[in-house]
Amino acid sequence: MKATLVIENITNLATMSGSDGPRKNKAQKDIGLIKNGVIAISKDKIIYVGEGKLPESIPTDEGTVFIDATGKLVTPGLIDPHTHLVHGGSRENEFSMKLEGKSYLEILSSGGGIHSTAKATKEATFEELYDKAYKSLNIMLEFGVTTVEAKSGYGIGDFETELKQIEVARKLDETHPIDVVPTFMGAHAVPPEYKERSDIFVDKIVNEMIPYIAQNKLAEFCDVFCEEGVFTIEQSRKILLSAKSHGLIPKIHADEIVSIGGAELASEIECISAEHLISASKNGIKKMGEKNVIAVLLPGTSFNLQEGKVADARYMIDNDVAVAIATDYNPGSCPSENLQLMMSFASITLKMTPEEVLTASTINAACAIKRESSIGSIEVGKIADIAIFDVPNIAYMVYHFGVNHTDSVIKKGKIVYK
Ligand code: NIG
Ligand code: FE
Repeated sequence: MKATLVIENITNLATMSGSDGPRKNKAQKDIGLIKNGVIAISKDKIIYVGEGKLPESIPTDEGTVFIDATGKLVTPGLIDPHTHLVHGGSRENEFSMKLEGKSYLEILSSGGGIHSTAKATKEATFEELYDKAYKSLNIMLEFGVTTVEAKSGYGIGDFETELKQIEVARKLDETHPIDVVPTFMGAHAVPPEYKERSDIFVDKIVNEMIPYIAQNKLAEFCDVFCEEGVFTIEQSRKILLSAKSHGLIPKIHADEIVSIGGAELASEIECISAEHLISASKNGIKKMGEKNVIAVLLPGTSFNLQEGKVADARYMIDNDVAVAIATDYNPGSCPSENLQLMMSFASITLKMTPEEVLTASTINAACAIKRESSIGSIEVGKIADIAIFDVPNIAYMVYHFGVNHTDSVIKKGKIVYK
């Protein structure tokens, strides 16, 4: 098979190869490093990965593109497994409330927060949502991201708006170089008109929305905001079990602000991932490890919330929980598309090592969206999604924070950013 693209003289090649599933505990540190590496790609697939020169058994011709990665770090394309990519408007008007000391849940319960974005998302046309999210994807791509998950969730009872968000995500998946994986999150906040009878709203999600999403194959995953004052443990259980019975893979926003047993529920239901976990109990974390629930940590959100707590990543890793990280990009708790910044925050604030952080944003992130058989590592047969960073090593990339280290990005074997 002829190579169409060759990346050679790679000073540090982090292949992340060597395990089929998520990397846990000490293995989370293993980045499969090759010094002086070379990668050959044919069309959209990786056909060779090794050290030194490209062997003669891999033919090239005048059409083959060669990239010299001397002095660079090459990794799998970064994966952002938790975003609220598609939404209308922004919330800088609530920034002053936050600075005055109002908490995230106070702003939400007074009708702001998610509710104000719901209004803006409902009012926005398909094209407006599409254009706004397209720009965000461009930013993500510049930071080396090649796949993102995108949640609905700003319909808040208005199913048409939920469907509009999902359709926008699906169209972006077709038109933008980044792959977009949609998640249905009909249970993101209780609509004001159901405030006193939230169980009836939960029944609507279970009886009408989930079956429709599953039957029409609109999303692969189903998420719920399980939180004090939002959806209770019982309600979240009902929603996620219903999702599971319809073939949707359960995810959960768990113990973000208050510890209410979200991590325990994630383990009971065997969710593919539990996200946030800032306030998760030790017992819940241990149970997640036992049931292979991936922790998707969002260090930009804990930084932005400034509620004095961060997820206990060290305890998770020590207790066999595979950790992934994501931006949580959304207009409220984390208005930033910059996954590289989150990687630095994961080290600085969660005390993860740079190697653990790279695992968290490649192979473990792929596992959190069930894409590990095709992306997340640089191995023969996998899709050629690759990021090249202008840094001498992964420690430098994570330590030198707040700037963009991307040199170029390859998506499905094509250079899409340089
Ligand atoms: O993951 N916690 C719930 N959902 C988002 C925030 C959404 C918003 O504030 O608009 C989160 O933090
Ligand atoms: Fe979120």
